[in-house]
Amino acid sequence: MSWWRAGAIGAARKRFEEDDDLDAPLKHQSVALIVGVTGIVGNSLAEILPLADTPGGPWKVYGVARRPRPAWNSDHPMEYIQCDISDEEDAHSKLSVLTDVTHVFYVTWANRPTELENCEANGKMLRNVLNAVIPNSPDLKHICLQTGKKHYFGAFQVFGKVAHDTPHHEDLPRLESPNFYYTLEDILFDEVKKKEGLTWSVHRPGLIHGFSPYSMMNAVGTLCVYAAICKHEGIPLRFSGLKAAWDGYANCSDADLIAEQEIWAAVDPSAKNEAFNVSNGDVFKWKHFCKVLADKFEVGVVEFEERSESNNLEVMMKEKGPVWDEIVRENGLLSTKLEDVGHWWFVDLLFSVESPLDNMNKSKEHGFLGFRNSEKAFISWIDKMKAYKIVP
Ligand SMILES: NC(=O)c1ccc[n+]([C@@H]2O[C@H](COP(=O)([O-])OP(=O)(O)OC[C@H]3O[C@@H](n4cnc5c(N)ncnc54)[C@H](OP(=O)(O)O)[C@@H]3O)[C@@H](O)[C@H]2O)c1
Repeated sequence: MSWWRAGAIGAARKRFEEDDDLDAPLKHQSVALIVGVTGIVGNSLAEILPLADTPGGPWKVYGVARRPRPAWNSDHPMEYIQCDISDEEDAHSKLSVLTDVTHVFYVTWANRPTELENCEANGKMLRNVLNAVIPNSPDLKHICLQTGKKHYFGAFQVFGKVAHDTPHHEDLPRLESPNFYYTLEDILFDEVKKKEGLTWSVHRPGLIHGFSPYSMMNAVGTLCVYAAICKHEGIPLRFSGLKAAWDGYANCSDADLIAEQEIWAAVDPSAKNEAFNVSNGDVFKWKHFCKVLADKFEVGVVEFEERSESNNLEVMMKEKGPVWDEIVRENGLLSTKLEDVGHWWFVDLLFSVESPLDNMNKSKEHGFLGFRNSEKAFISWIDKMKAYKIVP
């Protein structure tokens, strides 16, 4: 049993059930709609919600994504709905019929070339979901919206250039520049007013460490793929970027921990109508984690090198599609394409800035005491990538 279930979430569950006899079978059933169920946090939610001791349960789970359900997600008890939420008609026809939903977990997004386009595309997706669910689910109680630390740091195009000073905390005002997270929050705040008693929470992770091969930004997965290519070619790992990103303190947000915080916020009265940072609660250095990664793939690591025209992952991995196909074939891995599992732009961006640290004070003060040992968790995500045969 992990600490959160014995500790923070255990306490939340106790509060949630305070009128109940704890030995009696749970009377209450909640119904989750996970939008983005094959994503990096969506998959964690799908795994944790159906567990017997999850607060608010027993949970019935609906999960939404566009692609057919992948094998690595199919063990979780859930009704899987293939739906494109950017399409108003598709969203309406498939989601308005789910009349028993009590909680929405919105853990998806769209990536467009400019932030104004991001605001439009992401705003439309959230609206389509809420317009289909709020009027048709009479028992709907709470909506969790996942955004992120770009709330404080700026959108990708201005990443770090307009940022608030660190450590980031929830009381900081919005930045001046456009940001689709602000659009999503504003839509959420407007929409919840349409139903009396409906509550919300916003969750702001930093870099997420997790598993999903369908995620648009999976740093651990990308690093595993890179390490596997290095091993195959008999060369050491070579990470380039900002010196401060290499040997400065960094932090991250574990996908299971984010899912736990979202579930806590969904069921605990003290978390209603609030935004929360969510990070592991410790710090690490990438130069140490690179060594951990290298050991897991039995390769060496080159000492730090400054980023240059040719010395970045996007350039180094440009022609490696056929190499990856060979690795997949030789090791009997799940069939994937390099462009789907290697998010080079994302890791290059990650190493081009000093890691923006945040704090978890507000979350703790409101009662969520979950944490992760980032190194142990990093190793367990690498092991999971290997166990599901995404990497050798
Ligand atoms: N990943 C990170 O490191 C990170 C860090 C901080 C903040 N965040 C933020 O967290 C939020 C959620 O992102 P994430 O990284 O958790 O997501 P993700 O891992 O990229 O997963 C996205 C999920 O949504 C589904 N999806 C995408 N477009 C869809 C559509 N039109 N209709 C239905 N389903 C759709 C995807 O499956 P299909 O493609 O099959 O539809 C997938 O299940 C975003 O705001 C992101 O900026 C992420």
